Amino acid sequence: MVSSLLQVQNLSVRFGTVTVVDGIDLSINPGETLALVGESGCGKSVTALSILRLLPAPGIISGGGVAWTGQDLLKLPLRALNDLRGGDIATIWQDPLAALNPVLPIGTPIIEALVRHRNLSSAEARTVAIETLQRVGIAQAEKRLKDYPHQLSGGQRQRVMIAAAIAGKPKLLIADEPTTALDVSVQAQILELLRGLIRDTGTAMLLITHDLGVVAQIANRVAVMYAGQIVEQGTTAQIFEHPQHPYTQGLLLATPRLHGDSMPLPIPGVVPPPGRWPTGCRFKTRCPLYTQPTCDDMPPLMPAGEAQPARCWFAGTPAWDKAKVEA
Ligand SMILES: Nc1ncnc2c1ncn2[C@@H]1O[C@H](COP(=O)(O)OP(=O)(O)OP(=O)(O)O)[C@@H](O)[C@H]1O
Ligand SMILES: [Mg+2]
Repeated sequence: MVSSLLQVQNLSVRFGTVTVVDGIDLSINPGETLALVGESGCGKSVTALSILRLLPAPGIISGGGVAWTGQDLLKLPLRALNDLRGGDIATIWQDPLAALNPVLPIGTPIIEALVRHRNLSSAEARTVAIETLQRVGIAQAEKRLKDYPHQLSGGQRQRVMIAAAIAGKPKLLIADEPTTALDVSVQAQILELLRGLIRDTGTAMLLITHDLGVVAQIANRVAVMYAGQIVEQGTTAQIFEHPQHPYTQGLLLATPRLHGDSMPLPIPGVVPPPGRWPTGCRFKTRCPLYTQPTCDDMPPLMPAGEAQPARCWFAGTPAWDKAKVEA
């Protein structure tokens, strides 16, 4: 059995009295890419922030645990946690401009992180920083080390963020919408870069994205999140070929790169916000399979026969009539 690198067990998060993440389980094995997908507000970023105990106040982890190579991350002393952040666990956030310090040359944080987390001398760290910037496609890297973030384009800034994240050869990369802030033409390049880098280095990744086209290209496994819960989890092939949950089925129908003739999201309405989740199945207000009183009880995340687990009493039933939705 492969022991997992990261294990999130029954994790719940609250902001004040409002639960926003509700008992989720995830695990990531060494070298594996797990995609966490779902519409805006489902709790993806809050999940990522919780893993590194970076929740903004008044957010608290109200239940469950996070284990890193078997160690309880939630009990880890802050010093050890800081060694892990930016060391074995690196992050890339959506907005590189917000993540880069505007008054520091771009090379400085990369070099400092290598000195701090990887015990390199300044000279060695500088060499690795230059090599890594070259690897992510920054030309004249030695000269660019002294550039400030505002001197770079959005795509270059995200390349720098990726360089900063991978320079120290992390075991896990947490990438939260790493390409969303970029032009569409640049998104594909950055994604290709990321895919090559993690493949070459054997880095595991938690990839958070709205874009199922991206997931198909890069992930080994997929967890689908809806209103604070995981509603389906399986291998990329299982999710794409036999989506069990109506929510997953709906998201897939609207994914352009999978259907040349992509259609708009067939799912009516919006995700209910935290504090307004319906009782029972949280997807019931938008689901064509909604049946009373069955769906007024919360379905467990349960496997249906041979298929991957899905949180639906009617898992596996096709929910959307493609012809009808298009008409
Ligand atoms: N600082 C905060 N204070 C209060 N509530 C918050 C805070 N941050 C997030 N939330 C709530 O937590 C819920 C989940 O937010 P989260 O940012 O994890 O969503 P997401 O799935 O990452 O969405 P997106 O795709 O838009 O990034 C949201 O509904 C939001 O209202
Ligand atoms: Mg988010």
